[in-house]
Amino acid sequence: MNLDTDAGSYRNELTRLLGCQHPIISAGMGGPARSELAAAVSEAGGFGLLGMVRETPELIESEIAAVRAATQRPFGVNLIPAATEPSLFAAELSVCIATRVPALCFFWDVVPEVIKQTKDAGAIVLYQVGSLEDAIAAEQAGADAVIVQGIEAGGHVRGRAGILTLLPEVVRHLRVPVVASGGIATGGGLIAALAMGASGVHCGTVFLTTHESFAHDYHKQRVCEARAGDTVYTDLFAINWPPNSPVRVLANSVTDEARGQLFGHHPDQLPREVIANEGGRPIYRFSTDSPLRSTVGDLEKMALFAGESSALVSARTSAAEVIARMLREANEAQRRIAAYGRRS
Ligand SMILES: Cc1cc2nc3c(=O)[nH]c(=O)nc-3n(C[C@H](O)[C@H](O)[C@H](O)COP(=O)(O)O)c2cc1C
Repeated sequence: MNLDTDAGSYRNELTRLLGCQHPIISAGMGGPARSELAAAVSEAGGFGLLGMVRETPELIESEIAAVRAATQRPFGVNLIPAATEPSLFAAELSVCIATRVPALCFFWDVVPEVIKQTKDAGAIVLYQVGSLEDAIAAEQAGADAVIVQGIEAGGHVRGRAGILTLLPEVVRHLRVPVVASGGIATGGGLIAALAMGASGVHCGTVFLTTHESFAHDYHKQRVCEARAGDTVYTDLFAINWPPNSPVRVLANSVTDEARGQLFGHHPDQLPREVIANEGGRPIYRFSTDSPLRSTVGDLEKMALFAGESSALVSARTSAAEVIARMLREANEAQRRIAAYGRRS
């Protein structure tokens, strides 16, 4: 495949802040977004995030070193305070600070002290939020850029509204760069986000299916086969996270058996039934673990995180090809729009 993007430049305040070429950030998906993916995205001119939620400081340190061995370009690490036991979170953040990771991306509740600690250490702070209130709180606490997540996003979903309305609402109120997250897997999506005032896009599902992602082939294949409407928004996959933390997954036998009872599940009240194994660790039905390269067991019953954007992903390619395709499509979209003006 020709990786020449024929690209117009989309450099802006976000690419200047992050030191990347293209305003495309790969989401720090816990599990799939290991060093191979983050390095490939950064090397291709996007901005790669390592998904390190609840990982040990040792693994985080070795994954950071692996990114640095593969690319000299900047990258970041994603951590989630609300989903991590406080002493582990403190150790995770310490290792990122000690190894001078260029950027940290946090998600879920806005925790001002975490932003302050990270900024004081000299790292860039990105914060993914799902509402105008949280976007304002993140900016006021010192975040350098705010990622706004719409309800169509895959994985854990903080957003309660569609990105087409939430994004412009947030853009109107913030001074820092705003990044659109959820439902974006094409260059048309990139142009739409930029047109609505975003400075870039943050994509998970489209990078989940790439060769470099650490997701299991079964998960990648299911995402590639999915059509619009095949995802389910639910809090059924609750074990390991605080209560009331909805996710978007591909429908599977677990969501089918719930027969419409998709909400109101408490992590402590769900049974512990082992359905798979990940490096010696048991994986329970209803847990938030998704199948990785190293997972064995009944993968179909696991949380097959996927956004509505899975309908837009049908081929497994490299991360560089995803970025090149999105840029090519973005240019085509711009030409199409410019042609309307010439015709009238
Ligand atoms: C498999 C998967 C795992 C995810 N894990 C995380 C995570 O650990 N931390 C995080 O901040 N967001 C996580 N997300 C959500 C993404 O940050 C982002 O909001 C979402 O992927 C955007 O929607 P899209 O999937 O349509 O691109 C995950 C998403 C997916 C698909």
